[in-house]
Amino acid sequence: MEDHGNSLLAGKTAFITGGAQGIGLAVAEAFLRQGARVVAADIDARSLEAARGRLEALAPGRAELVALNVTDLDATEALADRLFSNGGVDIVVPNAGILVLKHGIDTDLATWRRVLDVNLTGAFITATSFARRMVAAGTPGRIIFTASLFGVRGGRENSAYSASKFGMIGLMQSLAAELAEKGILVNCVCPGQIDTQMIQSLFSERAVLQGTSAEALRSAFEARIPVGRLGPLEELAGAYVYLASELARYVVGQSLVIDGGWQVG
Ligand SMILES: NC(=O)c1ccc[n+]([C@@H]2O[C@H](COP(=O)([O-])OP(=O)(O)OC[C@H]3O[C@@H](n4cnc5c(N)ncnc54)[C@H](O)[C@@H]3O)[C@@H](O)[C@H]2O)c1
Repeated sequence: MEDHGNSLLAGKTAFITGGAQGIGLAVAEAFLRQGARVVAADIDARSLEAARGRLEALAPGRAELVALNVTDLDATEALADRLFSNGGVDIVVPNAGILVLKHGIDTDLATWRRVLDVNLTGAFITATSFARRMVAAGTPGRIIFTASLFGVRGGRENSAYSASKFGMIGLMQSLAAELAEKGILVNCVCPGQIDTQMIQSLFSERAVLQGTSAEALRSAFEARIPVGRLGPLEELAGAYVYLASELARYVVGQSLVIDGGWQVG
């Protein structure tokens, strides 16, 4: 095994959407620890402010935080132009997403469209805007989508969300097939139940629907996971570091499920 120390991503620049909190922020921190420069984009101004201080303290001068709505094609193209005229981007992580818990038959068209728009169309806009510029620059790269365990199986109250993540895996596999010959390797991470704001909101909302408490739901969830706990963010972020690094240079078109054994348990 090659010895890369703590510099698996030295000299690389990464762009991460939904990067101001949760999984995106944890990936930003993991990439910074491996020597990368990071541009983290998010729609939420307050989270961006909080993340700015945190990333600056971790890696002074190596992180930039930008406001971006991933459904805005023009804004994404303008940002990509700026980054590519200033050194380029090697690693792209389309990660921004929203979760709306509803049974399929209770999902109105506006909700369906909103979830598909942010989770799938937003990821398409991010991935293709940046990949097009990587191809034009003739530089190799990595694209690592954040799909979900619900991108490989459906689940209750998950129709729109699950459809968006299945769609993302189809997009990922097609881009992987098309871009590998250009040296751009495309894969995705499928997190199970990771301990973020999104999952805490899920417990709270489900608790109301089911007439129980968020704590009781959390315990029941944890009991179903073979390792017996929700996934800590730092234990998920390593999968992104691996897929972004030279260790994964023969890995193409894969969906890496990180779920503490949920799927097999
Ligand atoms: N937490 C989990 O257990 C889990 C499991 C599977 C998949 N995921 C996926 O991981 C990704 C990150 O989720 P998380 O758990 O960190 O959730 P989170 O809610 O903590 O973070 C999501 C981030 O995306 C941002 N965002 C939302 N809409 C946006 C938009 N239109 N443009 C730009 N940014 C936007 C939010 O502001 C937020 O900072 C999502 O795609 C989610 O579907 C999460």
